[in-house]
Amino acid sequence: MTRALLDLKPTLRLALRDGAYLRPLLADDVTMAYVDGLNDPEVHRYMEAPRKQRQTLEGVRAYVADNAADAGAILFGLYAGGTLRGTVRLHDVESGPGTATVGIALFDRGVWSQGLGSAALAAVVRFATGELGLTRLEAGIIAANKGSIQAFEKTGFRRTSDKPPDPELGPVGLWVLEAAATR
Ligand SMILES: CC(C)(COP(=O)(O)OP(=O)(O)OC[C@H]1O[C@@H](n2cnc3c(N)ncnc32)[C@H](O)[C@@H]1OP(=O)(O)O)[C@@H](O)C(=O)NCCC(=O)NCCS
Repeated sequence: MTRALLDLKPTLRLALRDGAYLRPLLADDVTMAYVDGLNDPEVHRYMEAPRKQRQTLEGVRAYVADNAADAGAILFGLYAGGTLRGTVRLHDVESGPGTATVGIALFDRGVWSQGLGSAALAAVVRFATGELGLTRLEAGIIAANKGSIQAFEKTGFRRTSDKPPDPELGPVGLWVLEAAATR
């Protein structure tokens, strides 16, 4: 399965509404707007790595390249209006039978609360369950991150248990989407 994931990446494209789409990112796709967005305190407030360490063009390119070469991950770029606005990351694919973890970051605050985040999550869920045949998707979400909780809930994720609390931001929940096996 994971070999297949590497083979899929070059041609993979998931359509969203109004011409928006998701496709796996390559290092050369990284823009300064992406880097600057990750360094925006409003954007990274609930994000583990960018919250703790200032992001650079080289660092973000290396992160994107690592994901591109990872047989167990896809880092999708979210393009809207022809511009890269954020990412959805499907990772640790098959860390357990039929499982993966999902993360999302719209680093362009100008597109928040327009339904893009939940539409992007829904497209990745359809791909992961329908195309990859995964049956369990997980996300760890800080309880104070209301926007993220709303977007994941709208997509069908439900809170199942506690994760270890974040020392600075408090309670963290495990959000799970279970899907029927398709193969
Ligand atoms: C969290 C995030 C992905 C949400 O994306 P988005 O495109 O703004 O979300 P949507 O527009 O799809 O909103 C989904 C729902 O959440 C609501 N919502 C969005 N932001 C909200 C907020 N800050 N507080 C409360 N509700 C919010 C929307 O109104 C919508 O509700 P509705 O369906 O009843 O209308 C985006 O804000 C983001 O990337 N934030 C920074 C990074 C981050 O925190 N990532 C998540 C880490 S787990």
